[in-house]
Amino acid sequence: MALVEISSLGRTYLSKNKSQTIALQNVNLSIEKGEFISVVGPSGCGKSTLLKIVGGLLPASEGIVTVAGDRVVRPRADVGIVYQAPLLLPWRTVIENVLLPLEIQKGVKPKDVDNAMELLELVGLERFAKSYPAELSGGMQQRVGICRALVTRPALLLMDEPFGALDAMTREFLNLELMRICAESSQTVLFITHSIPESVFLGDRVIVMSSRPGTINEIVAITLPRPRTTAMMATEDFGVAAEHIRGHFNLSGAAHL
Ligand SMILES: Nc1ncnc2c1ncn2[C@@H]1O[C@H](COP(=O)(O)OP(=O)(O)OP(=O)(O)O)[C@@H](O)[C@H]1O
Ligand SMILES: [Mg+2]
Repeated sequence: MALVEISSLGRTYLSKNKSQTIALQNVNLSIEKGEFISVVGPSGCGKSTLLKIVGGLLPASEGIVTVAGDRVVRPRADVGIVYQAPLLLPWRTVIENVLLPLEIQKGVKPKDVDNAMELLELVGLERFAKSYPAELSGGMQQRVGICRALVTRPALLLMDEPFGALDAMTREFLNLELMRICAESSQTVLFITHSIPESVFLGDRVIVMSSRPGTINEIVAITLPRPRTTAMMATEDFGVAAEHIRGHFNLSGAAHL
């Protein structure tokens, strides 16, 4: 069985003035263990809504989501989430921020501190363990956010435009780091992005969503070999995949993607 099963998923928001917004409609997707799934789609098409429902932060209006065979009805300890803003607690050191989910879930043991230090090492921040978030750059803070999401060793990692606020060079660097970490641990990831090149570069499959009400227009398999290198972005296969995905949005007029 797939790690994540999303079946006939729908979500309607009811606003204060009683008007309804259908954010998601009939979304169906299976995610296998170890898969890296990218999601692209125009602004407002329901990407964050989808991620929040899979993360148990928001109830579905229709359909069901299961993770490891269990229906998702609340946040799970084995699902980690990384947001666009790192949302670190400013009064806690880097290592204390990374350990926060464990502190909340079950208490921190000495070996957890070792694991957290290993994660910081993996993203090149071991020297900053005792620093405070304000002493770090945006890219470094985002790396701390990734460590915090990974510290529980989640079966599933949900990422909502984690690198959207970063400059192009930092973004490329973190893309490579993320891929390395995911390859080492066969991490299953659902990754939302506005960037078509990023979706192709990272993904085993790219979910292309339509504008509201958001539904899946196409699922594009990316056949580039792994490990991936930035040089692959100049290959024909990469260009063809990116152009194919771009075609969906040109047709619907969302040329900004
Ligand atoms: N709490 C809410 N109440 C009412 N409507 C909402 C709420 N949250 C989201 N929506 C609406 O649902 C739709 C989907 O929102 P969502 O945040 O999932 O989009 P998105 O694809 O993540 O957009 P972006 O790319 O800009 O982040 C939008 O039209 C939005 O206005
Ligand atoms: Mg969003």
